[in-house]
Amino acid sequence: MISGLIFDLDGVIVDTAKYHYAAWKELADTLHIPFDQKDNERLKGVSRVRSLEIILEIGGLTLSDEDKRKYLTWKNDRYLSYIRELKEDEILPGAKQFLLDARAAGYRVALGSASKNTGLILKMLNITDLFDAVIDGNKVTKAKPDPEVFLRCAEAIGVPAGECVVFEDAEAGVQAAHNAGMTAVGIGSRERLPEADFHIHGFAGVTLKKLLGQLEA
Ligand code: BG6
Ligand code: MG
Repeated sequence: MISGLIFDLDGVIVDTAKYHYAAWKELADTLHIPFDQKDNERLKGVSRVRSLEIILEIGGLTLSDEDKRKYLTWKNDRYLSYIRELKEDEILPGAKQFLLDARAAGYRVALGSASKNTGLILKMLNITDLFDAVIDGNKVTKAKPDPEVFLRCAEAIGVPAGECVVFEDAEAGVQAAHNAGMTAVGIGSRERLPEADFHIHGFAGVTLKKLLGQLEA
């Protein structure tokens, strides 16, 4: 039985991945570290601090804690300059309708994201009220693939973990869902998200009833 639906934010509800990439790419260029879209896949779903660590690993660079803090602030300021301009039409196709359908059908709906900017993004997109609970990077201590964020979501919506389905675009997020004992629907191809239980390319043209029927079969 499925009673709870948990959504990742970046890359599932909204295409903010391009803004994260633009900001990290600028930082990597400044540090003379080679960094491309393929490297960026490793940053999806993981925390801001971990993302910087991965970029430094790629460049074989070590920084002092003070410099790390400085670059993290710099990256987030760049990212926020994009986010402050975010428009409702950047919600990924079909995502809002899917959320509305889920609520109308009586499912408990939560958002589980590593992003500390979740509150601002939901506000800019005017969709805060579509979630019964929001657990973000400010509320958890362990990054995906740790299951903490999704277990906290399940607790907040009062649904047992085994009755939750997670929608994720990142491998770390799919692993977090499985570590929480939940079903993982991958937003993307089987090649990109080999561990997901089911795959959709996005919510456009996806019917809630049909999808959940296939998951429960
Ligand atoms: C995740 C993104 O949702 O949030 C990651 O997929 C990002 O790429 C992480 O690093 C943290 O986001 P923020 O907004 O707190 O820097
Ligand atoms: Mg994501």
